[in-house]
Amino acid sequence: MALRKVVTKEDPVLRRTSRKVEKFDKRLWDLLDDMKQTMYAADGAGLAAVQVGVLRRVVVMDCGDGFLELVNPEITDKSEEIQEEAEGCLSIPGEYGITRRPKWVTVKAQNREGKWVLYKGENLKARCFCHELDHLDGILYTDKVIKMLEVDD
Ligand code: NI
Repeated sequence: MALRKVVTKEDPVLRRTSRKVEKFDKRLWDLLDDMKQTMYAADGAGLAAVQVGVLRRVVVMDCGDGFLELVNPEITDKSEEIQEEAEGCLSIPGEYGITRRPKWVTVKAQNREGKWVLYKGENLKARCFCHELDHLDGILYTDKVIKMLEVDD
């Protein structure tokens, strides 16, 4: 495993659309392993492959209830109820803002073997799913923010 460099918001790669994963091979597994290590080293709750410069639909997450690997993830359902909470992004260090996200979502994604798995997330985990899946379409939370927060550092 190896740490990968996390790109920051000035990098135009973050605005590009990631491509579907077709091959579930060692190259994908190495990417997933490196992303896991990189996310934990940066103390993040989620990381999309585009954030390490790889335009593939791959996400890793850990919202405090265990590690997840999502390949070709899609939101399959979401609540009408909305939450307004703070979020941040490893590609936009030191900044936080309030976004409007569904209270819960369901997501289907493939695992590293290509098997489809269904997930549900509420509250923080729903925000995390939405945020990371947006990255795959070149969207940053700052595009949707309703209020940036003042942070003392
Ligand atoms: Ni992010």
